[in-house]
Amino acid sequence: MSKTTMTLLDLVRILPVLLLVVSMAEGGSIALGIGFPKSLVCTRVHGAESGDTCFSITTALNITPEFFSTINPNLNCSNIFVSEWLCINGTIS
Ligand SMILES: *[C@@H]1O[C@H](CO)[C@@H](O)[C@H](O)[C@H]1NC(C)=O
Ligand SMILES: *[C@@H]1O[C@H](CO)[C@@H](O)[C@H](O)[C@H]1NC(C)=O
Repeated sequence: MSKTTMTLLDLVRILPVLLLVVSMAEGGSIALGIGFPKSLVCTRVHGAESGDTCFSITTALNITPEFFSTINPNLNCSNIFVSEWLCINGTIS
């Protein structure tokens, strides 16, 4: 019998190692899902014009304020300046 043939005993010995690797991989992906922010891709931008407000933009584009603030996480609505790039459409994954 060849030395490289795997016996049942070999399988029993490596099984706990395999299970450990799988559970570590699962733990890692769970940690990733919780610990890292979702990735945001802005697909359309708008250069703010004089008089633009979060309300005027969301109303004109028919998007919700919640979606608008989600795709503009650092935007201060009381402080929009002319030519500031605002994200007006995007995907969150
Ligand atoms: C937003 O801008 C206003 C006006 O500059 C400022 O008073 C306010 O503290 C800012 N808010 C945040 C969350 O940065
Ligand atoms: C946002 O982008 C999606 C996908 O390209 C499109 O279907 C949707 O109409 C866009 N919404 C706005 C408000 O531009």
